[in-house]
Amino acid sequence: MDFLTFMSVFLLLISTSCYGLSENHHGDEEGGLLVVAPAKQQKEFDYFLLALLWPGTLCQGTNHCCSANACCRSNATSMFTIHGLWVNYNDGTWPACCNNGSNFDIKKITPLLGGLQIYWPSLSCNLESTCDGGKGLFWAHEWEKHGTCATPVIWDEYTYFLTTLNIYFKYNITKILIEEGYIPSNSEKYPLGGIVSAIQNAVRATPLLVCSDGAVQELRLCFCKNFEPQDCPNNVTPEEACPRYVSLPEYVPRSLGGKRSIPWSSNREAI
Ligand SMILES: *[C@@H]1O[C@H](CO)[C@@H](O)[C@H](O)[C@H]1NC(C)=O
Ligand SMILES: *[C@@H]1O[C@H](CO)[C@@H](O)[C@H](O)[C@H]1NC(C)=O
Ligand SMILES: *[C@@H]1O[C@H](CO)[C@@H](O)[C@H](O)[C@H]1NC(C)=O
Repeated sequence: MDFLTFMSVFLLLISTSCYGLSENHHGDEEGGLLVVAPAKQQKEFDYFLLALLWPGTLCQGTNHCCSANACCRSNATSMFTIHGLWVNYNDGTWPACCNNGSNFDIKKITPLLGGLQIYWPSLSCNLESTCDGGKGLFWAHEWEKHGTCATPVIWDEYTYFLTTLNIYFKYNITKILIEEGYIPSNSEKYPLGGIVSAIQNAVRATPLLVCSDGAVQELRLCFCKNFEPQDCPNNVTPEEACPRYVSLPEYVPRSLGGKRSIPWSSNREAI
């Protein structure tokens, strides 16, 4: 076993588990049974997961631009952005769509919109599914599917978005990686173990990385219900797993459809 593997195992063993949670938080290999049952009586979740996106990887696939798509902004893409704050069970499944009456209402988060547009943008022009079977903003999808299941810790939409922004600000993953020399690059490859160790040292818990074609696509941090960091169960599917050496691509917005990239706009139309 090499040193990094040894250290990872060591850190896993010494890291604290959340008080009162079951010991089974390293999960099954097969994560991901979506439980879309009507929600009223869904059992309380076990832990939070903050999912961050790496636009440098996701934006490579951009083939359609619109003002809602942050991949099309001239300046938006050199940091991890928020995917969502999710709630999971220790067995690798998660509740979804827990409150039929809590349709997303953008008016409830007006004070947060400036921050959400910068740090929690959509990276696509497509609308996302909502819990009533319709389509809506990225934020609507995240609140209805995941946020409504965060009771009894989070009960309302405003608190969901505010809490997520606060955790995101507290653990600046982009900064942690850059300070350790993991600089976005279209030529370098970095050891996955080094990236994981850098986060472990800064956050005191093990993150989970998801890759696409060897490029970091998503980075996940896990938290107890009191928002203390905890190790993430290693339950990515083989297709999502990262290789031993990964890239952290830089994305240079291209002109698409004959148009130059769209300047950032704080206009309500832009979301
Ligand atoms: C959700 O609300 C709709 C409209 O109020 C209702 O028709 C539907 O049965 C509800 N679904 C659940 C799972 O409660
Ligand atoms: C992009 O530029 C705009 C206008 O200068 C600025 O307000 C916004 O914060 C920038 N976005 C990011 C993600 O830096
Ligand atoms: C994270 O750190 C980077 C690099 O220091 C900085 O540019 C960025 O504004 C920080 N992000 C947040 C959300 O504080």
